[in-house]
Amino acid sequence: MMEVISFKLNGQEVTLKTDPFRRLLDIIREDFDCKGAKEGCGEGECGACAVLLDGRLVNSCLITAAMAAGKNIWTIEGYRETERFQLLKNKLAEHGSIQCGF
Ligand code: FES
Repeated sequence: MMEVISFKLNGQEVTLKTDPFRRLLDIIREDFDCKGAKEGCGEGECGACAVLLDGRLVNSCLITAAMAAGKNIWTIEGYRETERFQLLKNKLAEHGSIQCGF
């Protein structure tokens, strides 16, 4: 069963025809070439697949296409272009933060 699903991805309205149970992680990687979110555990434990969904950090391996419909999704590819990310990046660099713990 295929459905037409629309959502906002990195500020752009996108539409695709897909299985409503398909994982958001696979959609953003395979259909929209956003490879920043990665598959680690595939079961919601590691956070390697994290994206912002309506401003909340979620694990995209646990989000279906149907759950993403009508939502505003940001991946690191879009988020890194924002002013907020630039500020954060500059502050992390300024304080010499290079790894976990910051
Ligand atoms: Fe580990 Fe999604 S792949 S939380």
